[in-house]
Amino acid sequence: MQVLSVASELFPLVKTGGLADVAGALPAALAKLGVTMRAMLPGYPAVMARLPKKPKAVHQYAGLFGGSARIVEARVEGLDLLVLDAPHLFDRPGGAYGDTAGRDWPDNWRRFAAFSKAAADVASGAIAGWRPDIVHAHDWQAALTLAYLRYGGTTPPATVMTVHNLAFQGQFPAAIFDELGLPASAMSLDGVEYFGGVGFLKAGLQAADAITTVSPTYAREIRLPEFGMGLDGLLNARADRLHGILNGIDIEQWNPQTDEHLASRFSAKGLRQRDANRRAVEQRFVLDPDSGPLLTVISRLTWQKGMDILAAELDRIVGSGARLAVLGSGDHALEGALLAGAARHRGRVGCVVGYDEGLSHMLQAGADAILIPSRFEPCGLTQLYGLRYGCVPVVARTGGLADTIIDANHAALEAGVATGFHFQPGSGDALVGAVHRVVDVHADRRLWAAIQKQGMKSDVSWEASAKAYVGLFRSLTG
Ligand code: ADP
Ligand code: GLC
Repeated sequence: MQVLSVASELFPLVKTGGLADVAGALPAALAKLGVTMRAMLPGYPAVMARLPKKPKAVHQYAGLFGGSARIVEARVEGLDLLVLDAPHLFDRPGGAYGDTAGRDWPDNWRRFAAFSKAAADVASGAIAGWRPDIVHAHDWQAALTLAYLRYGGTTPPATVMTVHNLAFQGQFPAAIFDELGLPASAMSLDGVEYFGGVGFLKAGLQAADAITTVSPTYAREIRLPEFGMGLDGLLNARADRLHGILNGIDIEQWNPQTDEHLASRFSAKGLRQRDANRRAVEQRFVLDPDSGPLLTVISRLTWQKGMDILAAELDRIVGSGARLAVLGSGDHALEGALLAGAARHRGRVGCVVGYDEGLSHMLQAGADAILIPSRFEPCGLTQLYGLRYGCVPVVARTGGLADTIIDANHAALEAGVATGFHFQPGSGDALVGAVHRVVDVHADRRLWAAIQKQGMKSDVSWEASAKAYVGLFRSLTG
């Protein structure tokens, strides 16, 4: 079976969040099950720099949304890439979606419409000798692929639309429609029209043969108005095509026994070896050594992630006796609030603003617990890294967080199955309450180690979920 994956991020070439990890890990996980996945990706500078000097062009455009472009193929880090090399759209300084100051590019609709058009062309046979059985599009940046296929005239391959986060929908004014090159009939209620404008994700959800999201709980939540972000009606109407498939993680990249980023490598049998990592974290975040729990947060600093609640509760968190090391970037006001909190609580709270993959590994290996106070969380990956590294997840009970962590309630502790702590999302009191529970349980070293070990036994690999994707793909191709 041949699959074309279409995503705007791909680890290790370009990453702003979990989408990259998932799109980067799925091809290898599926390969083990006999599925070949080629990954289509925009030619950002960071991507072009990783390609061989003269990559093979497999398709050319004299004009694609205002400039010449080509699709090149290459193998990088074991990934079979199809890169849209379109300098007028992607050869710019800054990130995947915005300039160096973090402002979204005003022509993002055009950039990702072009990307999606090119992906649809590949899916329709633009590359000599290759045609996928399945097109797997991720998030709004790739969603229009399915609309181009639907209105393209030829019989398209089967299509899957995966939603990683319903909060990002790619919603644009109706005025762009004429430039998309879709037939006028597509600007309709069951096409790309969305609240009077054009909705990229909406168009993909409408056109897809199957819709997936990244956890069973989020698949249920998004059918409710509170989580549906305006799309709950459509999702309910198409509920028979909606599936929740949990994300896994790359257990080779994230292996505490071999991880090059750590001060000291370890396994569940030698948790003492984590101590050197804890000391390294204390040094880097300028924290006083102490016998109480060291908490970490590794996150985009946004409202979704509950980072405003965290910033507001720093005093009470410190009051509980816990220490906190925060690594994150995002909202400038939240960065400022957390840095101010660290200055107020010298030695108890440390904050590094920035994006640092290596440091995120060290934190998982050195902290006692990872705090994830998200208001909603489609899946979440940092709790899975935490499980694997003996860094006990303390999570808001929502989406994939609820699906992957077993709360240390009385029954779960008795049965020896607890892997972390749950609390009510969106509440500062609940967050602080959970931190107090952590402080209490952490004081019982044997109990704490039992929770760590139970977490390290959890299967966080892609194995089960890769099978679920293959099952879905097969059901679509017959
Ligand atoms: P989301 O995609 O919504 O941000 P996930 O938990 O799915 O949330 O994925 C976040 C990914 O980004 C994880 O791999 C996490 O380790 C990483 N990450 C987030 N912030 C940082 C940071 N400041 N430095 C390094 N890695 C980060
Ligand atoms: C999104 C979600 C996150 C999920 C990730 C990968 O960024 O916010 O919960 O883990 O995608 O699917």
